[in-house]
Amino acid sequence: MTDEKQHIGSLFDRIAPTYDGLNHGLSLNIDRRWRRKTVALMPPVEHVLDVAIGTADLTIAMLRSGKAQRVTGIDLSREMMRIGEEKISNLLPSMGRQGGAVDFLYANAQEMPFGDASFDGVTCAFGCRNFSDLDAGLREMYRVLRSGGQVTILEFSYPSNKLIRCGYDLYFSHVLPFVGRLVSRDKTAYTYLNKSVKSFCWGEDFLRHLTQAGFQDARFETLTFGIATIYIAKKKEDLGLPRTT
Ligand SMILES: C[S@@+](CC[C@H](N)C(=O)[O-])C[C@H]1O[C@@H](n2cnc3c(N)ncnc32)[C@H](O)[C@@H]1O
Repeated sequence: MTDEKQHIGSLFDRIAPTYDGLNHGLSLNIDRRWRRKTVALMPPVEHVLDVAIGTADLTIAMLRSGKAQRVTGIDLSREMMRIGEEKISNLLPSMGRQGGAVDFLYANAQEMPFGDASFDGVTCAFGCRNFSDLDAGLREMYRVLRSGGQVTILEFSYPSNKLIRCGYDLYFSHVLPFVGRLVSRDKTAYTYLNKSVKSFCWGEDFLRHLTQAGFQDARFETLTFGIATIYIAKKKEDLGLPRTT
């Protein structure tokens, strides 16, 4: 494991206890709506890989909606996953389900420990902008997805409206680092999050990365004035045609 990966893992380990509260509080719960919308755009499938599962909020939305029967989640922060595991074990009995619906695995999105075409669907919420190599992460998502399967990605984006941009810049450059530092007591984590959001690609640019990774029919839907975006793309259907020699 390189220093860079250890760095991301330990950064999220440090903010894990306050991550959910800050997310929901600072976004006035809009983040929950974004995750529900992301799930609404997925087809119902059996087994989903949730990349950068964190504290499992997207996985919970998938299980609640019935869009996924089983989820495997990977992440580089054990602490984020520990909290996610706790939330899942509280949730499942209330849904009349036993354990075994969700597996958490400490693994890097850029070198996944799964065989080709292992999953019916792949999701990732607010994970991609943390990858040191976005293209390697997207190529891995493509590789582990079955043919005809859909990748569904939720990520922050940069609004096009100038007025909204001002509010966005103010929020990510000042409000988030200040409140994040105060609540999490971590001096650097929320400054990093601010930088990671503003330096990341979005819209057509992100679609190009999906296409380069091999995906087809890539498209996006913006949310809340373009503050966040959902990206959807497919892995080519394998028609099982006999090979010609
Ligand atoms: C902002 S959180 C998002 C968590 C969750 N998906 C959500 O919707 O709240 C980003 C997560 O990505 C994880 N992460 C970052 N880089 C990763 C990588 N290369 N492989 C796996 N997980 C990674 C972090 O550890 C962190 O838990």
